[in-house]
Amino acid sequence: MKIRRLLLLLSMGFFAATSGASPELPQYADEMHLGVASCASSTCHGSIKPRQSTKVLQNEYVVWSRLDAHQGAYQTLLSEESMWIAKNLGLPNAHEADVCLDCHADNVAADKRDSRFQISDGIGCEACHGGAEHYLMSHTDPSQSHEDNIADGLYPTDQVETRASLCFSCHVGHEDKIASHEIMGAGHPRLGFELDTFTILQPAHFVVDGDYEKAKWHADSVTVWALGQIEAGRQSLRLIETHLDTGNLFPELSLFDCHSCHHPMSDLKWQSQERVGLPPGAVRLNDAGLVMLIPLSKVLTGSSDEFENAARELQLTTYQNRNKSQSIAKLRHLMDKLNRRVLEDRPDDRQLLSNILAMAKDGDFSDYVAAEQAVMAIDLLFSYGDQRQKNSDWLDQMYEAVADEDVFDPFVFQSVF
Ligand code: HEC
Ligand code: HEC
Ligand code: HEC
Ligand code: HEC
Repeated sequence: MKIRRLLLLLSMGFFAATSGASPELPQYADEMHLGVASCASSTCHGSIKPRQSTKVLQNEYVVWSRLDAHQGAYQTLLSEESMWIAKNLGLPNAHEADVCLDCHADNVAADKRDSRFQISDGIGCEACHGGAEHYLMSHTDPSQSHEDNIADGLYPTDQVETRASLCFSCHVGHEDKIASHEIMGAGHPRLGFELDTFTILQPAHFVVDGDYEKAKWHADSVTVWALGQIEAGRQSLRLIETHLDTGNLFPELSLFDCHSCHHPMSDLKWQSQERVGLPPGAVRLNDAGLVMLIPLSKVLTGSSDEFENAARELQLTTYQNRNKSQSIAKLRHLMDKLNRRVLEDRPDDRQLLSNILAMAKDGDFSDYVAAEQAVMAIDLLFSYGDQRQKNSDWLDQMYEAVADEDVFDPFVFQSVF
């Protein structure tokens, strides 16, 4: 069974495409960006209705322009809220500031913008699919394979690892762009993300059908969730490496759990957390990218001890401003191992669910960021079978407990389980 899955993944080119160097993100790659107008004609991706005659729906532009939040991301920079944030940061405005455009538009360098490119298009097709300079003409040729398109500069949004890097670059932060505490302090909302949930939340402009399955990497939600969690963990470590050891008295605070600093003093909610292992008064790292790897380790390897020890060590070395490289290396090694296990054998959704529920019952998710990840995972895992329908009242109750992070009460959350 395991071997069959491995062979299947091999035949889908999974390892070939993921073991090599990761492709550059569309924003930083070499290709020219031709602009949304180049994709939007009614015979290309601008059909009003989905079509059957070709492999893709051809209404991608219409879905994106009418339903997708990415289309409006540049417009957001013109809002009063954005102007307020910009003013607080001492910027003349938001819609011309690279620090905002980097995540709210397809902010490629000036010499990568072709004549029809407009920054006001927001997060257009090429912000995710890569500059179309070399694939625009060829990618409709039926003899052209998905791999050929990728060789021509199409970004592999189908692969979990590369899709995660893409989405995380704006939704979690990236070595070169980050929603810093300065931006948050100026009024920017906190960012929270989970790959599979957000993939489902983004109005789909693709269907995974027979053609798709033949040409592209695909997997069920649990596998995407598990691989997405591993990528989130890896991204957290990269951010810690690039943004924490800056030598400033205060490192980049957005990498810590916001609520470990921000709550009224009268609202005493500190409790000893085995997962974190820090004393009262300590600032905790935001471990949203690590917390779900605990149940995943339990299900895939029978124990999460090693992982939890390494994660605690990372919290402690950060808190004590000691060298973190050993704990980071250990976590990376464990994540690589988990990654291999997921590819060999899909984690069992029932076991995952019961592990996460047990942790929630034990009060292991007393930080909002951890509770948020748990809720997204539970919702996803309930989608299997008829669990979701049967438990809809209970799910509502769970969502209610995380509806407002400012009044989140870990004991109320725990009592739901
Ligand atoms: C270039 C940066 C960028 C990339 C890449 C990106 N996003 Fe976004 N995304 C944003 C911004 C900015 C918003 C908020 C737009 C607004 O409301 O103005 C957003 C909004 C969303 C929303 C709506 C969220 C809500 O609260 O309604 C979803 C869902 C989403 N993104 C999913 C994804 C997924 C999945 C990927 C990867 C395939 C991705 N995004 C890639 C920047 C990006
Ligand atoms: C690291 C990427 C990143 C940077 C940098 C960034 N944003 Fe955002 N911003 C996002 C994402 C992602 C969202 C959507 C969050 C969600 O809904 O999950 C968002 C949401 C917002 C919202 C709320 C939109 C809504 O619909 O509620 C505003 C306003 C905003 N950003 C303005 C700005 C401004 C102004 C700047 C520059 C000072 C900026 N952003 C810089 C990624 C970023
Ligand atoms: C926020 C990122 C994002 C944006 C913006 C975006 N896409 Fe996509 N697109 C995806 C993801 C993720 C997939 C699914 C994975 C895949 O098939 O590569 C996808 C799939 C597709 C597919 C493949 C469908 C199939 O059946 O193989 C087409 C075609 C496509 N997008 C066209 C567009 C066009 C045209 C635009 C602009 C109007 C656009 N996309 C904007 C992320 C994005
Ligand atoms: C190490 C502690 C610490 C962490 C962690 C932290 N902050 Fe802050 N934050 C501060 C301090 C200190 C200020 C400045 C408060 C003041 O000026 O009164 C501040 C200010 C702010 C403000 C402006 C408040 C105001 O009164 O105008 C916002 C908003 C904010 N932080 C959001 C966040 C978010 C979102 C996160 C998590 C991503 C976060 N903070 C993480 C310590 C922290």
